[in-house]
Amino acid sequence: MTTARWDIKAVRAAFPALAITDDGKPRLYLDAPGGSQVPARVIERVSEVMLRSCANEGGIFRTSLDSDRIMAEAHAAAATFLGAQWDEIVFGYNSTSLIFHFSRMIARDWRPGDEIVLTRMDHDGNIGPWLIAAEERGVTIRWLDFDSETFEYRYETLEELIGPRTRLVACNHASNIFGTVNDIARIVAAGKAVGAVTMVDAVQSAPHLPIDVTALGCDLLACSAYKFFGPHTGVMFVAAALRDRLTPLKVRPASMDMPWRHTPGTPSFEAQAGTQTAIEHIAWLGEHCAGVGAQASLRTRIVAGLEAATAYEARLMDRFLAGATAVPGLTLYGIASRNRLHARVPTFSFRLANRSPQEIAVALAGQNIFGWAGDFYAHEASGQLGLREKGGVARLGLSHYTTAEEVDQAVEAVARLAA
Ligand SMILES: Cc1ncc(COP(=O)(O)O)c(C=O)c1O
Repeated sequence: MTTARWDIKAVRAAFPALAITDDGKPRLYLDAPGGSQVPARVIERVSEVMLRSCANEGGIFRTSLDSDRIMAEAHAAAATFLGAQWDEIVFGYNSTSLIFHFSRMIARDWRPGDEIVLTRMDHDGNIGPWLIAAEERGVTIRWLDFDSETFEYRYETLEELIGPRTRLVACNHASNIFGTVNDIARIVAAGKAVGAVTMVDAVQSAPHLPIDVTALGCDLLACSAYKFFGPHTGVMFVAAALRDRLTPLKVRPASMDMPWRHTPGTPSFEAQAGTQTAIEHIAWLGEHCAGVGAQASLRTRIVAGLEAATAYEARLMDRFLAGATAVPGLTLYGIASRNRLHARVPTFSFRLANRSPQEIAVALAGQNIFGWAGDFYAHEASGQLGLREKGGVARLGLSHYTTAEEVDQAVEAVARLAA
């Protein structure tokens, strides 16, 4: 039984960075699509690991045994976060390098004439590695396009795009430029129907939406802990069946057991511990803001926490859209309907008629409002809309620690710039 009670005061108190001021000016962190702030518990855990347990794994002394335990617990927590098993989790430097790493193994048996399907709304981290692999193997690229008016994929074309020669279907859950939440279940199902490897980029959805790789049935799914309140590290889910089929890119003495099988070199134990703790923060949201008992399973608390965050963020999105769409000269790139909030995450890209995105970001930064300008490596999407050559868009992202007052302040600041 859950009760809706988003305790924004307690949530904000968990993030010490939110209290920092610069020359007396509070910080307004609307840069979350690029990376979120972190709760005190994550900062403390990372520093505790570095103080008390700083050693490589595999030894018989106390600090090294700690590293073994940290790895085991972090893999288990990440698995629970994604609905997977611990031995289907690989930590890496970031999502992009994990995708590069797996693309090299997956493309090994591609033959000229094979095809792969990529999706135009994706970040280049889930496009570039596959383009390089396809070029090396003489494989044809096919694209799932989106509608420039609705910012949604043309799902009806999936049937003609995917066929018996399709070896891979790579798609993105939430867009880092438009905020659209894509129907990945449909895309993955179409890929699986022909036996293709299916890869989901969940970097932008993981901070906002519960993910269940088992229900989804994808082979690979990447997310980045620094977007979901953790340290700078990437997490890849690799389904057991695919994991066992791949010839690992490993050095000879490295173990064939997971996680070493697909983890080249020494990982960041402190980042793994911090990721586990970021997941515990999300579970705490489930307890504190959704009324789930502390004795409920970690998965139950995580899902409740994210569902409560989604509901809170929907209220913020509604407020942002109501204000922003009334600003004269503002063009929003993304779903603007206040009835379709379930189809987007709180990432808002826009242009103003009278100022470049860079000018907007600079003016906002002058007021200690942190936002982005550019195309954010959404290379295909920004290219399709002709945004790349004109400086891209300004982007503001809300998070579960953003307040309604901050949304109003940001909209007012943008309105002043538009005037
Ligand atoms: C949707 C999406 N995919 C992939 C990436 C790349 O993530 P990383 O920096 O961890 O490689 C990002 C980063 O912003 C992103 O937003």
